[in-house]
Amino acid sequence: MLPTLCEKSIMSLKKHIDELQQQFTDSLKNVSTEQELENVRIEYLSRNGKIPALMGQLKSLPLEEKKVFGPKLNQFKKASEDAFNNKKEKLFSSTISAAQEKNAHFDVTAYEKDPVAGSLHVYTHITEQLERIFMSMGYSVIDGPEVETDYYNFETLNIPGDHPARDMHDTFWLNVPNLLLRTHTSSVQAHAMEKQQPPLAVFAPGRVFRNEATDASHNFMFPQGEALFVDKNVSMANLLATTKTFLQEIFEKKDLQIRVRPGFFPFVEPGVEVDAQCPFCTKGCSVCKKTRWIELLGAGLVHPNVLRCNGIDPEVYSGFAFGFGLGRLAMIKYGINDIRLFHSNKMSFLKQF
Ligand code: FA5
Repeated sequence: MLPTLCEKSIMSLKKHIDELQQQFTDSLKNVSTEQELENVRIEYLSRNGKIPALMGQLKSLPLEEKKVFGPKLNQFKKASEDAFNNKKEKLFSSTISAAQEKNAHFDVTAYEKDPVAGSLHVYTHITEQLERIFMSMGYSVIDGPEVETDYYNFETLNIPGDHPARDMHDTFWLNVPNLLLRTHTSSVQAHAMEKQQPPLAVFAPGRVFRNEATDASHNFMFPQGEALFVDKNVSMANLLATTKTFLQEIFEKKDLQIRVRPGFFPFVEPGVEVDAQCPFCTKGCSVCKKTRWIELLGAGLVHPNVLRCNGIDPEVYSGFAFGFGLGRLAMIKYGINDIRLFHSNKMSFLKQF
């Protein structure tokens, strides 16, 4: 606790200021970290610090002494603040140059003893497997834009503006007329047909987007795969043989059976939904919800309107198309019970693949 000034002689007050100045200078000199600098600020310059406390005591001095010590104390305060700021700047620039120095000699091999092994995302795994399967059947793998026009996502697929099927696709529209995030990989069909005349066999995996609530089997962004084959005399038999082969391959079960139910998609006629026999049981289990069948694909023969719209004569050519969710396949293949896990960034989940 500082003694009050009125009790002190002019000489001892001067000595007191000099001592405080010396203490402050010494403390500042010894500072080498930001934390130490902050400690000095608190001790000497903060509202309750030693220098403001001394200034506060000026009030109790007689007028004559105030005249002598007022300017001296102010000068001391200003000099202390300047010295503090100087030190702060020096410390800051030496921290920066130390960091620059460190980076300049950064050794990328320094951590090689304990490397963290990365791994492919399960979607990448399954996409690569699918690409291999389709390429082995003679398909080309193609890509399409994720930001699409109304035309490619709907119009050319026999879904005009007033078609009720648009309600089945909860669409993310962009703030630009006619642009949207594609709701299915069927949007790639017209791009492929524009580029190449039949015979045409393409497989298009990629991300699609739907403006819908998420749950264990629905996400707002998920990967789909689309297969399109157009040639002369393409029939339902070709469609069923192809879907069966690809499902047998992906589930590594050569005798996997499929079944077909009627389904409606405006761009195919007839349209079907393809279920696969549950690859995990023969009597019913939790994966197939005791039905022994799992719904996997939307499919059908390409609608004549779609062929016509893309300059292909439906009297000469026919084709089939099918589309499926890769998340669904991965969930069944790897026994995953929630589609949201794929984008959860949980290391414990991702590290398994
Ligand atoms: C389609 O998207 C059609 N384009 C498929 C098609 C292609 C039919 C060619 C005929 C010919 P659908 O909306 O049913 O159809 O989606 C296909 C698959 O995507 C579904 O079976 C499901 O596995 C997956 N899927 C659909 N919505 C979601 C969602 N919100 N989250 C995750 N997967 C989904």
